[in-house]
Amino acid sequence: MTTRIIGTGHFVPEHIVTNDDLAQFLDTSDEWIKERTGIRRRHIDTGMGTTAMAAEASKRAIENAGISPKEIDLIIAATSTADEIFPNTAAMVQREIGNDRAACYDLNAACTGFIYGLNTAHAFISSHMAKTVLVVGSETMSRTVDWEDRSTCILFGDGAGAAVVAADDAGIEAVIMGSDGRKGEIIACDGRPAQSRWMSQAPRNPYMVMNGQEVFKFAVKKVPETIAQLLSQAGVGAEEVRHYILHQANERIIASVAKRLHVPMERFPINLDEYGNTSAASVPILLDELNRNGALKRGDRVVLAGFGAGLTWGATLMTW
Ligand code: UT7
Repeated sequence: MTTRIIGTGHFVPEHIVTNDDLAQFLDTSDEWIKERTGIRRRHIDTGMGTTAMAAEASKRAIENAGISPKEIDLIIAATSTADEIFPNTAAMVQREIGNDRAACYDLNAACTGFIYGLNTAHAFISSHMAKTVLVVGSETMSRTVDWEDRSTCILFGDGAGAAVVAADDAGIEAVIMGSDGRKGEIIACDGRPAQSRWMSQAPRNPYMVMNGQEVFKFAVKKVPETIAQLLSQAGVGAEEVRHYILHQANERIIASVAKRLHVPMERFPINLDEYGNTSAASVPILLDELNRNGALKRGDRVVLAGFGAGLTWGATLMTW
């Protein structure tokens, strides 16, 4: 017995911001952004928020799974951009989908969040602590980036993606997760002010700071290493995997991973041209697009892999 993805869904905001739109107020160009990242446009939230996008993606995943929301006994929301500190995003999604008994919590592993969530769901199902789990990745990255910092803001977009998972005979074959907190400052967001009646600190930078080149170097080394380790755990060859669904951060990172694994690029689907980097939502958005357009066939071997702030990384091997 293992864990199978039985339904997927996604939601992205309608409002589109193109590279040319950014060049109106930033010293950048469509050419630079396309060449260095592969991104052409991104969907940006104009007020809906992380919870509402997560709820919409979740409803679509539940409908796709053909189950009642009441069957769900655990909801994990992967996000680093929750609308509120509490209640948690997962509990607010629970309210929206019409479920009043599931355990609900948020998980913050930045861009690796959905993979961490899925692997955690697998652990719950394997240990019989849950039967049906909803994992949703939702992010409003547009609120964490400084729209005057061209080295970060051009990369990100908003959206949500979800998967319903349940116990089945075939599905997840191997999982892997890791972190290296020593490199926490390479990509970080201080966020809220550290002030209280008894504590006063200098105002913090509310926006993300990132050493892009260090993240790039980390990703092109760590992601192929992680996938190789994952495949060797399961005794599966890289050529046996039909789809490598990677965190959508930069097309050059994905191309480098493909090269290092000696796998043709056509096995690495890409949608970052349309959405940019949606952090914890990128893998489930792409997964849902492939599921709905019929690209995923029963029996296909699929690898999901992510990396991000922490630094964190993770991957999942499954039979679709
Ligand atoms: O989920 C994880 C999230 N983070 C990532 O995935 C980040 C991974 N890193 C990257 O994707 C790349 O490092 C970036 C796309 C962020 C930057 O690309 P790069 O090829 O590493 O560029 P660079 O930082 O070496 O900068 C090259 C030049 C610099 O100018 P000078 O010093 O050569 O004159 C930058 O100031 O490009 C300049 N630059 C820009 N120019 C136009 C940086 N950002 C921009 C921009 N438009 N948006």
